[in-house]
Amino acid sequence: MINEYFFESRDALLAQLQADMLAQVSAVIEQQNAASVLLSGGSTPGPVYEALGHTLDRRVQVALVDDRWVGLDHKGSNEALLRRCFPDHTVVGMKVDEAKPQDAVEEVNNRYRALAQPFALTLLGMGPDGHTASLFPFAEGLDGAMASDAPLCAAITATESEVTGPLVDRMTLTLPAILNTRRLMLLITGEDKLAVYQAAKTANDHKAMPVAAVLQQFDVDVDVYWAK
Ligand code: 6PG
Repeated sequence: MINEYFFESRDALLAQLQADMLAQVSAVIEQQNAASVLLSGGSTPGPVYEALGHTLDRRVQVALVDDRWVGLDHKGSNEALLRRCFPDHTVVGMKVDEAKPQDAVEEVNNRYRALAQPFALTLLGMGPDGHTASLFPFAEGLDGAMASDAPLCAAITATESEVTGPLVDRMTLTLPAILNTRRLMLLITGEDKLAVYQAAKTANDHKAMPVAAVLQQFDVDVDVYWAK
C-alpha cells in the first residue's frame, strides 16, 4: 500500500522526514537494543542526515542503500557522505578494494548479513529515469537484483546516461532486501519526478522502471514524501 505525503516546500518535507525517521528508529532501538537504518545517497537528503547524525542513538548502525564504485575521496561516494554525517555511528559501506563490484559481492553480503534485520528503516530516492537505489532501467545485473531469491546486495552496471554519468558500476540493495524493512520511505523532490512517480504506480514493465516494483507491492507499505 502507498501512503502519500505531499508538502508545500522542500524544507517542510525535510523537517517532517527527519522527525519521522528519528521516531521510527528510536522506537525500534528501544524495543530491541539494536537497529539498522539503510540510507540512499543523492543530493536531497543530506541536511536530514546531518541532523540525524547528532540525534540518533549511537547504537544504531547506518548502512548504505547503494553506492557508486568509487573511492571515499570521490564526490560521488555515498559512503563518504554517510561517514561525514554520522561520525559517531558504525557506518557499513559497500565498497571493497576490488577492481570490479562483481568480485566484491560476497564480502559485501557478509557485511550486510551482520546488520540487525529486518532493517528498522530504509530511505529510498528516485531518479527521473525511474531508478531507485541503484536499480537502473535495463542495467546489467538488474534481473538478479530483482529476483525474489536475491541476496541482500548485488553488483549493477547501469547504462551510461545523463542520470548516471560515467559512474555506471554500482553496488545496491536488491529488491527483496529493500522490502526487508519495518518502514520503507521514498523521497521525491522536483515537479519533473512527479509524472515519473505517477506512471510508476501502474507501470507493467519493471525492468524499464524499477521503482514500480517497489511501489506495486501489495503487502508492503511505502511512505512517499513528495515536494516540488
Ligand atoms: C544515489 C542513489 C539514487 C538516489 C536518487 C535520487 O544517487 O546515490 O543511487 O537512487 O537516491 O537518484 O537522488 P536525488 O536525491 O539526488 O534526487
